[in-house]
Amino acid sequence: MIDPIRFLMCPPDHYDVDYVINPWMEGNIHKSSRDRAVEQWEKLHHVLKDHALVDLVNPEKGWPDMVFTANAGLVLGKTVVLSRFYHKERQGEEPYFKKWFEDQGYTVYELPKDLPFEGAGDALLDREGRWLWAGYGFRSELDSHPYLAKWLDIEVLSLRLIDERFYHLDTCFCPLAGGYLLYYPPAFDSYSNRLIEMRVAPEKRIAIAEADAVNFACNAVNVDDVVVMNKTSDSLKQRLKECGFQVIETPLTEFLKAGGAAKCLTLRVTEPVRVEVHSLVSVESRTIRLEGHLLDSGLINQALDLIVENGGSFQVLNFHLGEQRQSTSSAEIKVSAPDREIMEEIMSQLIDLGALPPPQEICDVNTEPVTIPGVAPDDFYVTTIYPTEVRVQCEWVKVQNQRMDGAIAVNFTPDGPIAKCKLLRDLEISDHVIVGVEGIRTIRKTESREQRNTQEFSFMGSGVSSERRVELVVEQIAWELRQIRDQGGKVVVTAGPVVIHTGGAEHLSWLIREGYVQALLGGNAIAVHDIEQAMMGTSLGVDMKRGVAVRGGHRHHLKVINTIRRYGSIAKAVENGVIKNGVMYECVRSNVPFCLAGSIRDDGPLPDTEMDLIKAQEEYARLLQGADMILMLSSMLHSIGVGNMTPAGVKMVCVDINPAVVTKLSDRGSIESVGVVTDVGLFLSLLTKQLDKLTSPYQIAKT
Ligand code: ARG
Repeated sequence: MIDPIRFLMCPPDHYDVDYVINPWMEGNIHKSSRDRAVEQWEKLHHVLKDHALVDLVNPEKGWPDMVFTANAGLVLGKTVVLSRFYHKERQGEEPYFKKWFEDQGYTVYELPKDLPFEGAGDALLDREGRWLWAGYGFRSELDSHPYLAKWLDIEVLSLRLIDERFYHLDTCFCPLAGGYLLYYPPAFDSYSNRLIEMRVAPEKRIAIAEADAVNFACNAVNVDDVVVMNKTSDSLKQRLKECGFQVIETPLTEFLKAGGAAKCLTLRVTEPVRVEVHSLVSVESRTIRLEGHLLDSGLINQALDLIVENGGSFQVLNFHLGEQRQSTSSAEIKVSAPDREIMEEIMSQLIDLGALPPPQEICDVNTEPVTIPGVAPDDFYVTTIYPTEVRVQCEWVKVQNQRMDGAIAVNFTPDGPIAKCKLLRDLEISDHVIVGVEGIRTIRKTESREQRNTQEFSFMGSGVSSERRVELVVEQIAWELRQIRDQGGKVVVTAGPVVIHTGGAEHLSWLIREGYVQALLGGNAIAVHDIEQAMMGTSLGVDMKRGVAVRGGHRHHLKVINTIRRYGSIAKAVENGVIKNGVMYECVRSNVPFCLAGSIRDDGPLPDTEMDLIKAQEEYARLLQGADMILMLSSMLHSIGVGNMTPAGVKMVCVDINPAVVTKLSDRGSIESVGVVTDVGLFLSLLTKQLDKLTSPYQIAKT
């Protein structure tokens, strides 16, 4: 004979909405009717008694949510994992439930203090007993899942909840007999949805709509082919019928005000053990170390946030707080993730923040050979702008040609291993590409509070910067430009046509003539409009002296392009006296190299414009080598391209009238970038004026 099915319920004698610990309770404090609650609870009790045995636990005064016995613990066979409530409002229920289980002869397991887990509210057995679905994200901690696997000797599948209305797994997920699953997919992150789809065949998945979900249709009690719930739509009822289930609706509106319904009010205390299933858990943990001005620079928050945002969980194992303003802190953090894939994603982001494994865990990088030229192995490590070191043959090797969005190729030479950043397209068969996250570290300069403050100041995140602020930034930049020039350094300018349209051409020309610019990068347009202005006095047909559109002016730039094409290059046009001033003229005259990178919208193009983008990218990278400062003048596309090629440590000044562009480009998480939200013509005129004021003598560049 098979044992009868039993449920545990708790009469609603002391039930009320007394506090708010989930969104359903908001606005409902003391708004539920005791009489109606009792009546609804009795009805549910009655319905269940037709299909199973129902045990009762004594309600306790002062613990209004004790009616929700699903949260007492998680039962399998004669074993129970007792709940550890997340909110102190419910923690007082724990001893009463514990006593009940012990009195019934269960073996009770208790989780470590401060590791929340809310019982069958967040852990649901597959109805065939093959595995346990366990939720995390709001009430239960991911780190509780390995304990469940161990104590209950069952495979645990972790699902991350992301909609706070569905804060417990049983509010949006209900395994049914026959391998069916009733659930609300948007309550889960995409990784969890993928996991569900891998385990439950499409014809067994009953995905419900939001209207049913908010009526707690997933919060159902299933006994064989009977499904008991608060309320359902006709279409869902029909769907369940087609799958062989009979739906019994019983109103539970008073309990919905506390965020619970049928399933929450019950706990199935007979769950047969399947002898052939055993413990398996894919939750992984690793320990990392962080050092630096962890609090002042906000690094610790960034690290913890990224762990949680990516679906992981953490435990701070220790934290040594630097006490003086200058002293650094260090922390050891245990990171958990539901599986290897998510762990690697989290780890690679932590590495970018400068995280290190504990000394005893440091090992060499993993590499895989390139098998198709220009294609990396799937799991390749994607580089950042930060100086990176990789561990090869037990030694840390500095990565050369650091840039972002590349792969790291390792090659073994007689002098030892060499590691290089390479673009995917440049990978060769002889390269071994670093995969995974082992043996990689990035060096982040420890930023202090002062540095962070100046950075935030210069970001000017809040829209347009005031005039005085622009002047201050300009003074600083002028000073640095002068320094760089006097020391024979290198300044690269990337500029868009707006420089010309806003009257900046004469100032940029002056900078080039005076030796402040060592290379110019841009598109076809800046050269076209610069030459248009030099030859015809207009920029995109607008008279630059009077500021008005010239009749027929829209044709000017095409005439100009045609003229330069006739001469064969900008330099030849200069030589022949066709161009007598302007930015391109000064470049040619002063031997300042330039690269014009083409695009789909280019008119012409000019003979100098490089329409092969791979060649243009290479030329940009070549001209950027060794730059001390990059001035980015109103060109989002070219500036982003340049930013991608540039390692951390190169000062970048980004000027644009659009704050979004400035924020995007300056947000390199370091002090070396400065953003200025202003008109670029105005900026250049202030800059040249300021440079003029600085009187230190001009020395010829050393090299
Ligand atoms: N007010 C209770 C809480 O927020 C409701 C619990 C509902 N129980 C459940 N298994 N979903 O904890």
